[in-house]
Amino acid sequence: MKFLRLALAALAVFPLVAAGPPAPEALAAQARGLAGNLTLSLQGELFAAMKEGGPVNALSVCRTRAPEIARATAAGTPWRIGRTSLKARNPSNAPDAWETGRLEEFRTRLADGEAMGTLEAFEVVDVAGRPTFRYMKAIGTGSPCLACHGSALDPDVAAKLKELYPDDRAVGFAAGQLRGAFTLSRPL
Ligand code: HEC
Repeated sequence: MKFLRLALAALAVFPLVAAGPPAPEALAAQARGLAGNLTLSLQGELFAAMKEGGPVNALSVCRTRAPEIARATAAGTPWRIGRTSLKARNPSNAPDAWETGRLEEFRTRLADGEAMGTLEAFEVVDVAGRPTFRYMKAIGTGSPCLACHGSALDPDVAAKLKELYPDDRAVGFAAGQLRGAFTLSRPL
């Protein structure tokens, strides 16, 4: 009886020992940090490439570097990191059902007055029988993005986009609109 009371007391003091995977809030903080790093690296390379050779040059950088930078950001961590959008340029960035639901929620929350910077969502979901932590963080459209995602594209940019992305849906955006989201996941 005494032992049982001791054991219960120990459990109350050290709940983490019995709790298993980290708390969702802690996982969300990790994901938020990685998304922040990815934003900085992507924007750094994008703006440098724009300055060096204009948007047509930067476009090729986006195409090859964006996935590489995402992989490099995730390297050595249990996370998978990507970008998605309801209007994707690259079809391989198209959202799955969970991502579509979250992007639609972001759009509604934005319309209801929430700030772009606070739009995030996370949940533990079952992926092929395995509990998986999923996280998304909204990406807004800034004015530098309009050179390649706006509605008045330079004809050279428009021609190059048509060549590389015949099914491009990521044009016609205005500053302040939801462009897409970072999407991260890790098995628990
Ligand atoms: C120089 C042209 C260019 C500029 C400027 C640009 N992008 Fe892109 N963007 C691209 C290309 C090309 C892709 C497709 C990348 C790929 O193939 O994975 C893309 C893809 C994306 C995606 C992934 C989803 C999709 O549509 O495939 C997001 C999100 C995105 N861009 C956001 C932004 C944001 C935010 C900005 C401004 C900070 C921006 N982009 C500026 C060219 C550009």
